[in-house]
Amino acid sequence: NPRLDFAGKTVLVTSGPTREAIDPVRFISNRSTGKMGHALARAALARGAKVILVSGPTDLPVPLGVEYVPVTSAEEMYRRVRDYYRDCDVVIGAAAVADYRPRQFSQQKLKKGDSDLVIELTRNPDILAELGKDKGNRILVGFAAETQDLIANAVDKMHKKNLDLLVANDVTLEGAGFGTDTNIVTIISRQGDTTPLPGMAKSDLANVILDRISELF
Ligand code: C5P
Repeated sequence: NPRLDFAGKTVLVTSGPTREAIDPVRFISNRSTGKMGHALARAALARGAKVILVSGPTDLPVPLGVEYVPVTSAEEMYRRVRDYYRDCDVVIGAAAVADYRPRQFSQQKLKKGDSDLVIELTRNPDILAELGKDKGNRILVGFAAETQDLIANAVDKMHKKNLDLLVANDVTLEGAGFGTDTNIVTIISRQGDTTPLPGMAKSDLANVILDRISELF
């Protein structure tokens, strides 16, 4: 991409899943692979941004030239994002942050017994929503993976989290969502427009999302 429309901008991207520990060997997580977040980080870098990539565990190579901040849990992701937030112009929340974590972490490996086991869960911080409370002049972008009422839920989410753009993703469609190299999304803006996009490679979608962000500069 020859355009350096992100020159001078600092872009933080969250990517990948989080892991919420149950005991030293077990955790709760989700199917996110980090492909979308890493594609956004690479594209922003190519367009001249300084990029901070705060990522949960993935098998993806670290894009050369980004400041890479590896994290494990949602709470750790939130703390690290906060460390960098002040100097950010744009935050894109592409991570699939676990909404809940086990209320208790067991220092010892849980033993199996004959009866069922109940693990109590407690809420994790909603990272984007917390950033939205302290938005300043920053541009905040979120993703929403939905299985029903895609647009209505997405618009609701955009306003609740005080976002500028929301990328809504119907994860029931083939070729969309976790683990695929393509995505089929609708981009919703605070201004009220709704743009359905055809299925495309996550790398191309990353540039479409950045086009929409750069219109807001
Ligand atoms: O509310 P929901 O989880 O569907 O919102 C998804 C968006 O919010 C994504 O952009 C995700 O990265 C972000 N999020 C977050 N912290 C959470 C949950 C979601 O930043 N605890």
